[in-house]
Amino acid sequence: MRMKAAVMYEQGLPAPYADSHPFHIEEVDLEGPGPGEVLVEVRAAGLCHSDLSQVAGLRKRKLPVVGGHEGAGIVREVGAGVTDLKPGDHVVMTVVSGCGHCRTCFTLRPALCQSVTLPRTQGLLANGACKLSLRGEPIYHYSGISAFAQYAITSPKSLVRIPDDVPLDVAAMFGCAVVTGAGSVFNTAKVAPGSSVAIFGLGGIGLNGLMAAKVAGASQIIGVDINEGKFALARELGATDVVNARDPKAVEHVRSITNGGVDIAFEMSGSFPAMTMANAITRRGGEIICVGLGATDAQFQYAHAGLVTEEKSFRGSFMGSCVPERDIPSYIEMYRQGRLPVDRLKSESIDFDRLNVSLDLLDRGEVVRQILLPHGSV
Ligand SMILES: NC(=O)c1ccc[n+]([C@@H]2O[C@H](COP(=O)([O-])OP(=O)(O)OC[C@H]3O[C@@H](n4cnc5c(N)ncnc54)[C@H](O)[C@@H]3O)[C@@H](O)[C@H]2O)c1
Ligand SMILES: [Zn+2]
Ligand SMILES: [Zn+2]
Repeated sequence: MRMKAAVMYEQGLPAPYADSHPFHIEEVDLEGPGPGEVLVEVRAAGLCHSDLSQVAGLRKRKLPVVGGHEGAGIVREVGAGVTDLKPGDHVVMTVVSGCGHCRTCFTLRPALCQSVTLPRTQGLLANGACKLSLRGEPIYHYSGISAFAQYAITSPKSLVRIPDDVPLDVAAMFGCAVVTGAGSVFNTAKVAPGSSVAIFGLGGIGLNGLMAAKVAGASQIIGVDINEGKFALARELGATDVVNARDPKAVEHVRSITNGGVDIAFEMSGSFPAMTMANAITRRGGEIICVGLGATDAQFQYAHAGLVTEEKSFRGSFMGSCVPERDIPSYIEMYRQGRLPVDRLKSESIDFDRLNVSLDLLDRGEVVRQILLPHGSV
């Protein structure tokens, strides 16, 4: 089939993106689903900071590529052997899709499954297929999803069925922002009731972490950002304090209101100054959960003796250590109960023509989650 999609031919183009146009809106060809594949009509796709990092070239990708890695839509066709989904099902599209039969999958860590990660980094689907093309030349898949398109072929393991009454423009955010933010709190850190936590970066990921910390019963939730425009929403969603990371007294202030530092700091901005500050405001014996992602080869430094003598730990959290078919339905239920008001994070709906401008808004921190509607409406 022929469909509209946002294609990136080159990484590293400069901001403003409204002028450099990293995404070209093209009519591309998409092959139908083969065995073990699913055709999804993409109804909504979120714009994540990781998309901005790909545009900026921080992590190299196979090009040209159709962007987008969090989405929601409706199953339109299933390939041979797909039995757990059928046409008409509403689904969340997520990057995580384990093979189901390796050591990491058996230990419920599908986000780390090598046999899926390798083809994904080569721009292919988990089964090694490439289904996108333009004038006969291959176009690669982004993270096995490529949700900046009207349709997508994915592995069924990247899809989680959701109730039909969940608005798809909200559901899209569960594919990355919710699983990553909430999952880092529930799965990676296992925040206990009464904990004190700090969240660095009050964007799509950080605000989900913040809402999850509240659900987990954290007694102090300190939102940290360099953009004070993010503070009002953070407070409404459960931050007990908000701190400007650029305030020279910020570290001293957080250490004093937490009686020596937070139990757990979540770095959700992707900035090394935030990592340094997260370390400085974490109490002895505490943990720094590293969620933000920078350039592939970037190195971070810390005072090693302090790490040892204060028994601190830095821990990575990829896609919220999620098991999609276990976690997404439970996060959707929390949303329906009003405990995880993910809809509050949607800044605006956009169409293909606004995609490059939307990168600028995200880059300047003027929005939380912008949602692309590839068909013009949900
Ligand atoms: N680990 C994972 O699996 C995973 C998944 C998705 C995204 N990410 C990464 O998470 C990060 C956040 O993504 P997002 O979509 O929420 O981004 P976003 O742009 O919506 O939000 C980032 C926020 O960080 C703030 N910030 C920048 N520098 C800061 C500093 N020094 N201290 C405190 N706050 C600071 C910005 O003002 C902004 O509000 C990105 O690095 C992204 O690539 C990681
Ligand atoms: Zn993302
Ligand atoms: Zn596996």
